[in-house]
Amino acid sequence: MNKLIEKAKKLHLLSKSEIIEILKDNFLNNELFQAADEVRKEFVGDEIHLRALIEFSNICKQNCFYCGVRAENKNIDRFRLNKEDIIELAENALNNGYKTIVMQSAEDVYFNAERLAEIIKEIKKHDTAITLSIGERTYEEYKILKEAGADRFLLRIETTDKELYKKLHPNMDYENRIRCLKDLKKLGYETGTGCLVGLPGQTLESLAGDILFFKELDADMIGLGPLIPHKDTPLRDYKADSFWLSLKVMAIVRLLMPDINIPATTAMETIQGNGRILALQSGANVVMPNVTEETERKKYEIYPGKTSIDYTELEEKFKAIGRTISQNKGYRKKDNL
Ligand code: 5AD
Repeated sequence: MNKLIEKAKKLHLLSKSEIIEILKDNFLNNELFQAADEVRKEFVGDEIHLRALIEFSNICKQNCFYCGVRAENKNIDRFRLNKEDIIELAENALNNGYKTIVMQSAEDVYFNAERLAEIIKEIKKHDTAITLSIGERTYEEYKILKEAGADRFLLRIETTDKELYKKLHPNMDYENRIRCLKDLKKLGYETGTGCLVGLPGQTLESLAGDILFFKELDADMIGLGPLIPHKDTPLRDYKADSFWLSLKVMAIVRLLMPDINIPATTAMETIQGNGRILALQSGANVVMPNVTEETERKKYEIYPGKTSIDYTELEEKFKAIGRTISQNKGYRKKDNL
C-alpha cells in the first residue's frame, strides 16, 4: 500500500503537504477509496443512517456567489412553509421510518429562534433527533434552539481559504462563521461542517487546509460536495467537474476522522451517475433523502438537477452493496476510538 495512505489509515494523521500529495496523485485513487471504505467499516460499521431533509424556506438574506437561492436571484419563486406543514412533513417522515429530521432553510429572518423553538418542541414530542441547518445565528439563538430540543447543527465553513471566502460571500465574515461553529460545539450540539470542492480559484493547498480545519474543530459530521454551477448566479459559466476530487477529499476526511458521520451528498449523486453509491463505498455512512413536497423542492434550487429518492428504493440499493439502514438515531460514536 502507498506509504501515506497506510499512515493515514493507521494513525489518522497527515500533514498538510502529505494531504496535498494524495490529492495530486490520481493513480492513488482506488487505493484511497478502498482504505476509506475499510476505515468506515471498522469504525462506524455497515449501517447507513438516513436523515429526512425538510427544506422549509428559500427566502435568503445572503448572497453567496455559488448558490441558486441567493437574495439577488430574482428568477426564483420564494416560499416559506408554515409551522403545521413543517410538523406534518416531519411526522410523515417519522412514520416512514426515519429517525432524524433535518430542518434546513436559507437564512430567513422570519424564522427567529422563538418560532423555530416552537416547531422543534412539537417535533421532539416524537422519538427523534433533530438537526438544524439554518445558517449563522447568535449564541443566544443557538442556545434557545438547543434548549428547545435540537440535537445537531450543520454549518459548512464552505472554504477555509479566507481570501476566497471573502470573494464568494459578500457582506459575510469568516470570523463570525468560525464563532458560530465554536458556539455550536460549546452548546453541546453535534456539529457538522464541510466545504465546497471545485470553487473558482480554490487550490489543493486550500482543500488540505479545509481537511485539517475539520479535524482541529473535531467536527462530528462532515458534508462536502462538488460545486454545481447554477445559471442564475455569478458562477454560471464555471465547470462542474469536481466529482472525483470531492470524493478524494471525502475519503481523506474518513481516514483522518474515522468515527464521524459523513453523508454521501446529493450534489455527488447529481453530478455523477451512481455518485451516492460510490461515496458510500469511499467512506460515507449517511444519506439525507429529501422529504419536502415536490412543489417546494423544485423551488429550493441551490444548484440545478437536484435528485431525490425514496426510502424503499434506497434500501434496495444499500442491500446490493451489503449495507443496511440503521434503526437508531445515529449519533457519533466516540466510544469506539
Ligand atoms: N453547488 C453545490 N453545492 C452548493 N451549495 C450551495 N450552492 C451550491 C452549488 N451551486 C451547498 C453549500 C451549502 C449547502 C447547503 O449547499 O455548501 O452549505
